Amino acid sequence: MLDLWYKNAVFYCIDVETYMDANGDGIGDFEGLTQRINYIAGLGITCIWLMPFYPTPNKDNGYDVKDYYNVDPRLGTLGDFVQFTRRAQERGLRIIVDLVVNHTSDQHPWFQAACKDKNSKYRDFYVWADEKPEDAEEGIIFPGVQKSTWTYNEEAGAYYAHRFYDHQADLNIVNPEVRQEIQKIMGFWLALGVSGFRVDAAPFLIEIMREGVEPDVEDPFLYLKEMRNFLSWRRGDAIILAEANVSTDDLPNYFGDGDMLQMLFSFYGNQYMFLALARESAETLLQGLNMLPEIPHTGQWANFVRNHDELSLDKLSDSEQDEVAAQFAPDKELMWIYDRGVRRRFAPMVNGNQRRIRLAYSLMLTLPGSPVLNFGEEIGMGDDLSLQERNSARTPMQWSNEPNAGFSKASADQLILPVVSEGEFSYKHVNVIDQRRDPESLLNWMERAIRMRKECPEYGWGDFTAIATENPCVFAHRCDWQNRAVIAVHNLGKEPCTVSLKIDDDACHLIELLGDKPYEPIKGSSYELDLEGYGYRWFRLGNHYI
Ligand code: NOJ
Repeated sequence: MLDLWYKNAVFYCIDVETYMDANGDGIGDFEGLTQRINYIAGLGITCIWLMPFYPTPNKDNGYDVKDYYNVDPRLGTLGDFVQFTRRAQERGLRIIVDLVVNHTSDQHPWFQAACKDKNSKYRDFYVWADEKPEDAEEGIIFPGVQKSTWTYNEEAGAYYAHRFYDHQADLNIVNPEVRQEIQKIMGFWLALGVSGFRVDAAPFLIEIMREGVEPDVEDPFLYLKEMRNFLSWRRGDAIILAEANVSTDDLPNYFGDGDMLQMLFSFYGNQYMFLALARESAETLLQGLNMLPEIPHTGQWANFVRNHDELSLDKLSDSEQDEVAAQFAPDKELMWIYDRGVRRRFAPMVNGNQRRIRLAYSLMLTLPGSPVLNFGEEIGMGDDLSLQERNSARTPMQWSNEPNAGFSKASADQLILPVVSEGEFSYKHVNVIDQRRDPESLLNWMERAIRMRKECPEYGWGDFTAIATENPCVFAHRCDWQNRAVIAVHNLGKEPCTVSLKIDDDACHLIELLGDKPYEPIKGSSYELDLEGYGYRWFRLGNHYI
């Protein structure tokens, strides 16, 4: 039997730099992270996704790598990394790491050699033009900040391509030597025990293939197959979770027939979930989910509420974006970024409304796919909109109400990013230690909800069907797998209601698994149920409690 562990994994994204500082220099490190491993295991996480921790000039939060084979000295050593993986494995936790190979930092020795010498073999590791291409101002990823996708390098005497910031030179994947280097990098981290990769910027990685820089490159996606083959030969149970916010027509190409990538983030699910929350409309959520293509049995969606980037709403129309912004980013000047998204964490977007927060995470846990939490979401952390660009949502983890939120013993001005210390979301009010002591806290709710999600493999494996409720605010769905079924009902609206679920099988009972409050038990085989405003209830359909 195939070991498709990721079908029921609970992912947790960590930026080592802002998670826990053990040596008191103001920067999180592997030693600190290792100290927190029992916290992570206790939350019920099964796979940690580590954001880039490689040596870096750190101009794009580590997504500008200058050495793929090491740990940034600010975060520790390779020895610390291995020690961390040992501790994680002891607790049954898997680790995936960010693989950032669409581009390197301009400080990577390959780029430096490429600039210095036209005849260096590294010249062809990048993409060059003697004249600035006409479309250099098109396809900019960070509008308002980034000016072009081609920049002149004096030393090289040529323009180099960069889809992202100008310090991130695009690698030339068409060059077989570059592809070999990427395999070597993958092989290295796999040998150190990781269970796979979160592949950064996947569409741009293959874009150069698509543009057919080499005329004989027929199918750009074959590169993904090559990557997947290498991965699976090296480690059979390793996965690739790709960041590919592409059109629905393009999505199937990333999964292939199950011979390409195993997981993709569900950007459609995410963007339509926000629109659905703004509109209090079940139909809107269903519309988004229905846009997702069928995927192979071995494929899986990664569901999330927020990540370390902006909440991109690029797949919504302008007026739909406005609807989301009106509720979740009312001060557009301050909260809106790159002409497409919101640079806030989720809890402040809903003004700390605990009921709404739990509703959204309950959706994340029950929609078909595997959930991905961003660190700090489990306690409802806030943001700091005075920070530049996406840094607003990347402040350090709030462990306690001690100085610097217990994140670091350094002086406050030495911290890599300031902790949130003002207002409702300050570490004085939102932190792990306080929430640990409170049985009703978000942290304890999250732990319970994750535990229940793990007891419901149907959500990860099963066939999804929407259930009609006749209430436009109530989204109900079931997931069937191996003659078992689970049902989740979510009231996206603020008003309480009673709904009647249209379920064909009236021989079965609804067995309550989790809800926003203890509801009256459902009687007999009736499928009529009450829901509070922003309420949710999970059930197993059947006659067995467990
Ligand atoms: C996607 C990452 O999530 C983002 O943080 C980064 O800036 C770009 N890729 C470029 O690597």
